[in-house]
Amino acid sequence: MSRSRVSVVVLAAVAGMLLAACTGGGEPAGSTIPNLAGIDPAPPPPELDHEAVEAGEAIYGQYCASCHAADLSGQPNWKTPNADGSYPAPPHDASGHTWHHSDQLLTQIVSVGLDVPGTQMPTFGDQLTDAEIGAVIEYLKSSWGPDERAFQWQVTWQESQPDS
Ligand code: HEC
Repeated sequence: MSRSRVSVVVLAAVAGMLLAACTGGGEPAGSTIPNLAGIDPAPPPPELDHEAVEAGEAIYGQYCASCHAADLSGQPNWKTPNADGSYPAPPHDASGHTWHHSDQLLTQIVSVGLDVPGTQMPTFGDQLTDAEIGAVIEYLKSSWGPDERAFQWQVTWQESQPDS
């Protein structure tokens, strides 16, 4: 394949990704869509595991809702830092940015914590099994629209590729 032919193919893939990331209008004003340029499109997202969603809802109610709110809406004014410089708990529904992160990163955040000095987000690796953490993440996914689901699946799939 000649050099110019390669760049046409790459550009077409990038344009498709940007379109996929921006359509639907589900994106709240002011939030940032990470740049997916150069990433191959993933296969369609897998169906949600409804048993895991149900189990995850109960785990969420017990371990997460006190800070992130029972309806996943987070703490009020979650974009404004607290007096000590830490941030309030963000929403986990489509209005937050949980869906910007891959399964791998979300699992890591919940299990061993956020790499943010002074963060109020606890770690759960000693209280929840990997399956329970997976279930709670599956529950969060069930609150997203198709665009957020597709986006989060894309970053998850991309991170699972051998050359990523
Ligand atoms: C004691 C309050 C508290 C509890 C309980 C809590 N969180 Fe958090 N969580 C936070 C705060 C505060 C942040 C924001 C931290 C920061 O930016 O420093 C956060 C951030 C997060 C993030 C990162 C979100 C993003 O957009 O980057 C994830 C994911 C998360 N929490 C998941 C969970 C899950 C799942 C549970 C339950 C298993 C849970 N949290 C329980 C306070 C809490």
